[in-house]
Amino acid sequence: MKKLGFKNFTGFRSSSLAVKFLAAFCGVLVISIGVGMTYLVLDQSRQPYEQELNRLRAVAVQMDTVRDYVQSIQGQLSRDRESVAIRGTVPMVAALGTADLYAAKMQGLFGVRIASDRPRNPKNKADSWEMAQMEVFRSNPSVAEVSAVEELDGQRVLRYAMPVRVTAECMTCHGFPVGEKDVFGYAKEGYQVGDIRGLYSLYVPTTALETRTRQNLIRVYGLGLVMILPPIPRC
Ligand code: HEC
Repeated sequence: MKKLGFKNFTGFRSSSLAVKFLAAFCGVLVISIGVGMTYLVLDQSRQPYEQELNRLRAVAVQMDTVRDYVQSIQGQLSRDRESVAIRGTVPMVAALGTADLYAAKMQGLFGVRIASDRPRNPKNKADSWEMAQMEVFRSNPSVAEVSAVEELDGQRVLRYAMPVRVTAECMTCHGFPVGEKDVFGYAKEGYQVGDIRGLYSLYVPTTALETRTRQNLIRVYGLGLVMILPPIPRC
């Protein structure tokens, strides 16, 4: 076997090293671009949903605030109510009434309701998704909100729910003794402070979200191409 000269040997070694180095470089490049792209794609697909959830959350918190406000004037109202019960001043009716007005101003971009498994008003009867979420909140007290993409009345929507918990102030109408009539003539249900009485249930059609997601993805893939094309000829 012919022994390789020193010169040849180093030449061979350095070219093999260069190939290895280039291969490693290309490998690292492809992996890092792949990881980066995956992160961007996931992030950009999630983003419109996150934004929408922030909006829905803000509406739910606003409803909760209206409820608290109307609740805070109950003392004053019940003095006035001795002669007449005013439905519009029921905390939840005020919360839903203002949210309905807001939804109308937003031209049907989202829908809102208050749902309950024991509704006084039949319109508030929880549907199967809402029923399931009430169970989620009841069995996991630390869960503050839930969301999911679901089919609702034949359209795909992003649904959001936040629990409505009973506070001490609610007891005058929803507390004890069970069966006694409240000022509106409804039987008190015997809820306890902390119980889940219902849900703020909101939804937004996903059509606009899907368009935004698509636009985001086109941007990400465009960026990916710009990043990956120039180094390719060197690999
Ligand atoms: C002055 C009496 C009164 C007080 C106080 C009151 N509610 Fe109600 N609540 C009602 C009435 C009446 C309805 C039915 C409203 C309707 O006709 O749509 C109702 C409806 C609701 C609903 C909608 C589901 C359903 O049963 O139709 C929820 C949820 C609710 N109340 C929770 C609360 C919570 C939580 C509080 C305390 C922060 C509270 N309520 C305080 C009288 C009251």
